[in-house]
Amino acid sequence: MNPDTPPPSGPIGFVGLGMMGAPIAERLAAAGVPLVVHNRTRAKADALVARGAVWAETPRAVGRAAAGHLVFTMLTDARAVRATLFGRSGVAAGAARGTLVVDLSTIGPDESRANAARLRPRGLRYVDAPVGGSVDAAAAGELLVYAGGEEEDIDRARPYLEKFSRRTERLGGVGSGTAMKLVNNLVTIAGLAVATEALALAERLGLAKERVVELLLAGGAQSRMLEAKRDGLLRREYPSRFKLVLAAKDLGLVERAARDAGAGRRLAREARRLAEEGLRAGHGDDDFSAMFEAALARGRPSPASRPESPTTPSPAGEPGT
Ligand SMILES: NC(=O)c1ccc[n+]([C@@H]2O[C@H](COP(=O)([O-])OP(=O)(O)OC[C@H]3O[C@@H](n4cnc5c(N)ncnc54)[C@H](OP(=O)(O)O)[C@@H]3O)[C@@H](O)[C@H]2O)c1
Repeated sequence: MNPDTPPPSGPIGFVGLGMMGAPIAERLAAAGVPLVVHNRTRAKADALVARGAVWAETPRAVGRAAAGHLVFTMLTDARAVRATLFGRSGVAAGAARGTLVVDLSTIGPDESRANAARLRPRGLRYVDAPVGGSVDAAAAGELLVYAGGEEEDIDRARPYLEKFSRRTERLGGVGSGTAMKLVNNLVTIAGLAVATEALALAERLGLAKERVVELLLAGGAQSRMLEAKRDGLLRREYPSRFKLVLAAKDLGLVERAARDAGAGRRLAREARRLAEEGLRAGHGDDDFSAMFEAALARGRPSPASRPESPTTPSPAGEPGT
């Protein structure tokens, strides 16, 4: 866009009002940004519509209403993003040339680049802008935005990104934002996976969990993530902020990106296995800290839960089920 051209002044679009999308859109609405919104499940838009956002029946209608301006998407995965952008009733079918799509979802860098390449011939721009931080950070306007795309496109989105983030960092061209997000999530998710296995070990060693967590947080093992998850881990309750099923999805994305880039991926794979054990145990919609349940279920039964009179002892070192 020519820098002398004033930015469009109509509403901006927002598709995807889940756990993250809703508080982000609320921040924009609270800052006075006129919004046209859509979500697959309409009820999740009620609160925003009550405060003045306009409901659109389809993503295509969102694209049309945004009229060359900007459309945010915040969706589960790349499949949902593709359906929303390129489906028959998708954003691309309704959007005027010059519209900027800003995808906040966590997807693969290759998937971000493919979306941009499909939009380009239609005269539509694209920025990948996944976020660091969870639901509370979104509501407080404290997210980190990892942005990939042309500088002028990111600058165009910046006044809106600033309404819900404390920092927007451009990493490079399209796909570099989602690349950074995967690097970040390997540390945050696999890091918590290690912590849950450590707590499961502590329990087998007969240590009191409360003291273990307190001492971990007092020393070199201190982590903001462990601190944030402390109460839930101690109570073994996992009210969802970031669903385990999404953490497993992200670790799969990390593995694929690492494979394609020729980087190591063993720790991502191990963490994904733990997450998937949690999924199989029915924790998919729980917070990803429910990996602790999977960690507790691993290994041999603890001495306390072994039968009183053992039958044939297991061969030394044989892993249990
Ligand atoms: N939660 C976090 O802490 C967090 C933090 C950073 C990044 N993220 C990332 O942000 C994204 C959203 O996460 P979230 O926690 O908000 O998840 P969520 O609560 O499950 O929301 C997912 C959203 O995607 C929509 N959706 C899913 N499949 C769809 C499809 N096929 N077509 C159209 N819409 C579809 C859902 O619609 P319905 O309402 O109809 O289901 C909902 O609006 C994910 O990529 C996640 O990895 C999450």
